[in-house]
Amino acid sequence: MATVVGARPEFVKAAAFSRALADGSITGITETIVHTGQHYDHNMSQAFFDDLELPRPDHNLEVGSGSHARQTGEIMTRLEPALVETSPDVVAVYGDTNSTLAGALVAAKLHIPVAHIEAGLRSFNRAMPEEINRIIADRLADILLCPSATSAANLEAEGITEGVNVVGDINHDAMLWALPSEEAAGDVLERFDVAPRAYAMATVHRAENTDDPVRLADIVDGLNRIAQRLPVLLPLHPRTASRLGETSLPDNLRMLPPLGHSDTLALLANATIGLTDSGGLQKELYWLGTPCVTLRNETEWVETVATGWNRVVGTSPDRLVEAVSAMTTVDLPDRPPIYGDGNAAARIAEVLKDWRATRGRVMIGATT
Ligand code: UD1
Repeated sequence: MATVVGARPEFVKAAAFSRALADGSITGITETIVHTGQHYDHNMSQAFFDDLELPRPDHNLEVGSGSHARQTGEIMTRLEPALVETSPDVVAVYGDTNSTLAGALVAAKLHIPVAHIEAGLRSFNRAMPEEINRIIADRLADILLCPSATSAANLEAEGITEGVNVVGDINHDAMLWALPSEEAAGDVLERFDVAPRAYAMATVHRAENTDDPVRLADIVDGLNRIAQRLPVLLPLHPRTASRLGETSLPDNLRMLPPLGHSDTLALLANATIGLTDSGGLQKELYWLGTPCVTLRNETEWVETVATGWNRVVGTSPDRLVEAVSAMTTVDLPDRPPIYGDGNAAARIAEVLKDWRATRGRVMIGATT
């Protein structure tokens, strides 16, 4: 089996899957890891391999940045010979990045079955590059591994019912593994000079926010206003950092470089509130019991909103400030387990094993 990864969220999920495969109880699946090189800065890539103990990639395609077409095309061009050489029986892709799209396309055209992990997510907003990527990956996948019943229902609504399995969210597995102990989290907070439940944690990286100067200015305005009463930590994706350039920010709005996964989880677990346009963070905040304000007009993770722990507010500074006040002054309800129990990786491995066994039988039947 080959796993194709390229961007930060894929490293997190792939690490959980590699660990499940390395577990002696699931035998017979060997993994080749292909890193497309979509993310390449040390703290967006290698730091995650180190932090998460992800095995060294067998291939690094080193594609780097570019327009969507160039980046996707470059990954396809370099991935094809790697897959021809490796000749895997299945290719696993994750989520919704350009690496996901390119991985699914190349594998499908080489007649290699595709397993899509985190299948069926939809924002119903095709202006997002990620929405296009996930629609195509789902359409091409033979095995669709869904985090929730909603994602399976989204696939059904598009006529995709074969090979669909609801396995829970592999991000949850990854979080449970990387979450530091309370004592270690205390050290992280000390390092970042914040006290428990006395700061906000914000991230912004989606193109719809970073590449629209009005939306980005609105977010900064809203965060500035929140920072007047609560320190705000703002670890920045390289693109956001470059768009913000020399924008001057008050001391209490603290721009940081991209953080490692364990530091991020320690800070999310102890924040008063999280503000984000990231999908992964919306769920991590929920699992960690920290309320979330989502800086988008819609979310794929609708269950977090239904439970009352996530509010989708867009980018209006007034709405942002209002949502933070409202969510930090009410008692939020209990948190039911909306995306499984943190054992998605083992379930995915079982699905792949069963699928292989069935496929083997079908092939034997076909030749007799
Ligand atoms: C990608 C994914 C998104 C995921 C996100 C997590 C797509 C379309 N989007 O977005 O689903 O949530 O990763 O981070 O694939 N850059 C660097 N150094 C790096 C990586 C990126 O400087 O290590 C800069 C480059 O200027 C690049 C820009 O960030 O042009 C955007 O990077 P890109 O690889 O296009 O994807 P992301 O926006 O990070």
